[in-house]
Amino acid sequence: MDKTQTQKRIQKLRSEIARLRNAYHIENAPGVTDDIYDSLTRELKELLQKYPEFNDLNSPENRVAGKPLDKFVKVKHETRMLSLNDVFNEEELFDWEKRIKKLLIGSEINYFCEVKFDGLAVSLIYENGIFTRGATRGDGFIGEDITQNLKTIHSIPLVLNPLLSPEGVGGGNLKYLEVRGEVLMSKKTLISLNKKNKKENKPLFANSRNAAAGSLRQLDPELAAERKLDFFAYDIAEMKEAGPLLRGPASKLQTHSEKHKLLKSFGFNVDQDDAVCKDLKEVISFIKKFEKIRPNFPYGTDGVVISVDNLKLQEILGVVGKAPRYMAAFKYPAEKATTVVKNIVVNVGRTGVLTPLAIFEPTLVAGSTVSKATLHNMDQIERLGLKIGDTVVIEKAGDVIPKVVEVLTRMRIGKEKKFKMPEVCPTCGGKIEKKELPGQKSVAYYCSNSKCSAKNERYLEHFVSVFEIYELGPKILRRFKDEGLITDAADIFTLTKEDIAPLQRFGEKSAENIVQEIKNKKKISFAKFLWALGILHVGEETARDIAVHFSTLEKLLISARTTLAEIDNIENIGPAVSKSVNEFFNDKNSLNFIKKLQENGVIIEKAEKTKAGKFTGLNFVLTGTLAQMSREIAKERILALGGKVVGSVSKNTSYVVAGIDPGSKLKNAEKLGVKILNEKEFLEILK
Ligand code: IVH
Repeated sequence: MDKTQTQKRIQKLRSEIARLRNAYHIENAPGVTDDIYDSLTRELKELLQKYPEFNDLNSPENRVAGKPLDKFVKVKHETRMLSLNDVFNEEELFDWEKRIKKLLIGSEINYFCEVKFDGLAVSLIYENGIFTRGATRGDGFIGEDITQNLKTIHSIPLVLNPLLSPEGVGGGNLKYLEVRGEVLMSKKTLISLNKKNKKENKPLFANSRNAAAGSLRQLDPELAAERKLDFFAYDIAEMKEAGPLLRGPASKLQTHSEKHKLLKSFGFNVDQDDAVCKDLKEVISFIKKFEKIRPNFPYGTDGVVISVDNLKLQEILGVVGKAPRYMAAFKYPAEKATTVVKNIVVNVGRTGVLTPLAIFEPTLVAGSTVSKATLHNMDQIERLGLKIGDTVVIEKAGDVIPKVVEVLTRMRIGKEKKFKMPEVCPTCGGKIEKKELPGQKSVAYYCSNSKCSAKNERYLEHFVSVFEIYELGPKILRRFKDEGLITDAADIFTLTKEDIAPLQRFGEKSAENIVQEIKNKKKISFAKFLWALGILHVGEETARDIAVHFSTLEKLLISARTTLAEIDNIENIGPAVSKSVNEFFNDKNSLNFIKKLQENGVIIEKAEKTKAGKFTGLNFVLTGTLAQMSREIAKERILALGGKVVGSVSKNTSYVVAGIDPGSKLKNAEKLGVKILNEKEFLEILK
């Protein structure tokens, strides 16, 4: 981008950020999630660092957020409600420690770790043990009195529990107590609230924080009560005892962790996962442990709050600006980010299908740098309304491949270009055919040339991966093809050590390994054999259904040659699939290929009918990593009990088994209300 283009981009970013900021703080109706807002702000900051001459103190990004609304009575906080400084990785965490250690020379530091809830900060005041006033944070100095609404939250005690607190402390001898904490809406409540709002054509909440904020700002406490909010306490800001007390807790409190214990004994919810850590190594394992729990945690969270536990040390460290130096918020990587689509290119897949791919500037999302994302098909591009040059939102959750989820049309400058599918194959120049996608109204574009080299390469990669011939990666396959050692996948089975060893960079040993591995993988189940053939629309699941139905290749061949009807009648198989299966087995080239595979030593094992068992009729979807068993084994166990394993979640899914780092399948399951099992529950039903 040159200087004038940058200036234009800065203007665009500024106005969009200002609009989003207003929607969020004033209208309580954010158009986008925080990640997107943060991402745009980060880009603006970076551009302004490069071109400081475009800085403008009056521009909206320099204004302080959180102005109280006029509807509620304003209240002044006795002690300012602070913010936290963020750290985004281990290095920044160590930098923070270095800074505080300079000020605490020789002191032993313990850290207190707790979950950073993604809700709304509030202050609660108790006088003589009775809840008298609750307020929002506002700008930190002045908030809004929302006592009536807070009283509807069941986890906020109206009277402090004097019996459970140590030494009878509570209503009796506590004159004044100010508790700080977070009002939250559970993920479950948010889903059902959004379902209801959708039905009633009302706007949906982007996350639980906005839902909590929106609910607390209802002027009618009855409406707020319907929202089933929760409260978690995380700090005591002020505690005064009635008269000179001999046995008061305030005089005894020495650590932040003791504050938590006391809050709990008063009857507040506090984070159950909190822990005292003796060094940053333990803090980091806390962060890693919680990262695994986080997707299934009942509330929205965006990180971990780390505090110096000792209150005396906290005092020495003090506050800088609007954040305490003795605390840091570790933020987990954002799962969404914004970027600009530089180009859309087209990939040719193994079936010849053309897949558009968005290319963008390398962008950090969910902890990794990505520079491309699949757009799946033309339909997807049209649904998104995507043009080349657009600013888009990309999403990457867990180990899932990145996706373009939204186009920020307001960021357009008028120079964006429409994308058109090429009229000929970008690799071989072959004719493009349009075909319907099974079960969908949309069409896909295919290269019709059976000799297309891109198509053949992808097919070889698919073939060896289904046969589990791990020694043959894409580079080696291409090399063998270029050297003329193989012309198709069946040739793989005739390769000898003598063919491979003379090639540069291959020695005797690696040649031997390759040949041995190929030999070991000659035997294959009928289902996998069908899958390996790469028949259009026949993936792993469909291949298994067909294999179980026919049990042998011979029976399938007879049926396919004579009639479509039998394949059509198999459960789960629709007309587009049966048509393509039929076409495949009536094509001389495919039949020759199958014959060649068998002649070269491939042995196809007969498919057994799936046994009936306690999972008969149940569909499972697996997501994330299981700690106790591999995905393959989990699949086998389900199949052995008569169940099915399918690739994507639908309303017909019986269970989603969610391991560590689950992907979007878990979100889909939550959306559709499909029963979710964690690993423990899954192992339980396998018994
Ligand atoms: S400690 C010094 N502990 O994070 C002020 N804050 O980014 C922070 N938050 O306004 C208080 N969970 O709303 C603290 N366990 C936790 C928290 C937490 C969420 C929020 C709080 C604060 C914001 C700062």
